[in-house]
Amino acid sequence: MPVIAVIGAQWGDEGKGKVVDMLAARADMVVRFSGGDNAGHTVVNPLGKFALTLVPSGILSPGTVCVMGNGMAIYPAMLLEEMDVLSGRGIDLSGLRISDRANIIMPYHRTLDRLEEKARGGEAIGTTGRGIGPAFADKAARLGIRAGDLLTPENFRERLVQVLEYKNAIITKVFGGDALSLDEIYREYLGFAKRLRPYICETTRLVAEAIDAGQEVLLEGAQGTLLDPDFGTYPFGTSSSPLAGAGAAGAGLGPLRINAVVGIFKSYCSRVGAGPFPTELDDEMGRLIRERGAEFGTVTGRARRCGWFDSVAARFSNRVNGFSSIALTRLDILDGMPSLRICTGYELDGKRIDEFPAGVHTLDRCRPILEELPAWQGPISGVRDRDDLPAEARRYVDRIEELIDTPVSIISVGAAREQTIICRSIV
Ligand code: GDP
Ligand code: IMO
Ligand code: MG
Repeated sequence: MPVIAVIGAQWGDEGKGKVVDMLAARADMVVRFSGGDNAGHTVVNPLGKFALTLVPSGILSPGTVCVMGNGMAIYPAMLLEEMDVLSGRGIDLSGLRISDRANIIMPYHRTLDRLEEKARGGEAIGTTGRGIGPAFADKAARLGIRAGDLLTPENFRERLVQVLEYKNAIITKVFGGDALSLDEIYREYLGFAKRLRPYICETTRLVAEAIDAGQEVLLEGAQGTLLDPDFGTYPFGTSSSPLAGAGAAGAGLGPLRINAVVGIFKSYCSRVGAGPFPTELDDEMGRLIRERGAEFGTVTGRARRCGWFDSVAARFSNRVNGFSSIALTRLDILDGMPSLRICTGYELDGKRIDEFPAGVHTLDRCRPILEELPAWQGPISGVRDRDDLPAEARRYVDRIEELIDTPVSIISVGAAREQTIICRSIV
């Protein structure tokens, strides 16, 4: 039985939650391997509609073990709130596990996220304000506090004293903010630790045992490739890696154990927050896609910027992830569009380029070279077989497949679990 990584291939919000939920119905384990509560994964299934930020999307499939991996940064207040909402709706949380190596988001991370954004002024990244950047920076700087640390109060306090002194100096002396209280944080986090203790454990062994026993394991990505700290539109991106390669490191398994890497692509592009977006439609067409697609963020409610499908970015995403197949989501949103375009290259300083540039200043100067494709009428959300799609929709999917040079395994035509066309086996 395989290990399947489900990876955001664009700027996030591609529909990872939907795809993970659909695959989790038959999987034994789901491991979230990166990010924190900057993620918002929406799932619509027979149990209802859920917006998950930290708990893996497999939690809605009874019997599926859900691991929050070492690669995550967890804000305990949000996690407990999410757990309360889920149990209030009758969801069994007994399969939830939290890696003792996962970093914990502390109040100073959230404070600093906001202060740093404010200080960036016109160059603000448009972060979710959840403390993600400061928490992953601390992880790399060896200043992090991890889930396992919360379990030994004396050690936790000692560590907090050390780190908080440094953080308060930055908050007050660099940003002129108010110092945070050690006792308040300590008490609050001891309370979190008490509730989370039953879930915190060593998780790499659990994952290894599941794989060795031939179980099906999903690696649930968060964010999207173009927000990656290396390959995204740096510095306009996030602070943990959403890539397939990070799936291994962030879940604690060897890369050779991953059998399939599914790249989740929206049938067009969207982005929340600032940063280059070559195919962005800052016009009536962009508004039309946003309205039809209800493109507003799950986490912050911000309007998502919308644009045409970008195959230059998509090919790059494929290169750095090595997708074995593609899931193309939200094809139904394009029903009845007046016209459709796909970006096949960029024009930079009067010349055509086919590569996704590293620098944001170069990207800002790239103009999309667009190919027009015939639109279809729809609705297609009732279609369950690729051959039953309108000819124009088939052509649109075929063209994307051809441009990325990777087969489409799943076409999603609606938010619900069953509104899915399976084109071929994922593994
Ligand atoms: P994620 O962050 O990648 O999990 O994606 P989000 O959940 O943030 O955003 C995707 C949105 O599209 C959610 O509201 C999903 O319920 C919805 N969705 C997913 N697939 C489809 C689809 O094929 N069609 C439509 N109409 N909605 C979809
Ligand atoms: P899911 O998992 C879309 C964006 C933010 C901002 C940038 C940095 O739902 O696809 P951060 O708070 O991470 O420091 O913000 O990254 N961002 C996302 N955009 N979907 C996400 O997650 C995102 N997570 C972060 O909007 O531009
Ligand atoms: Mg999302």
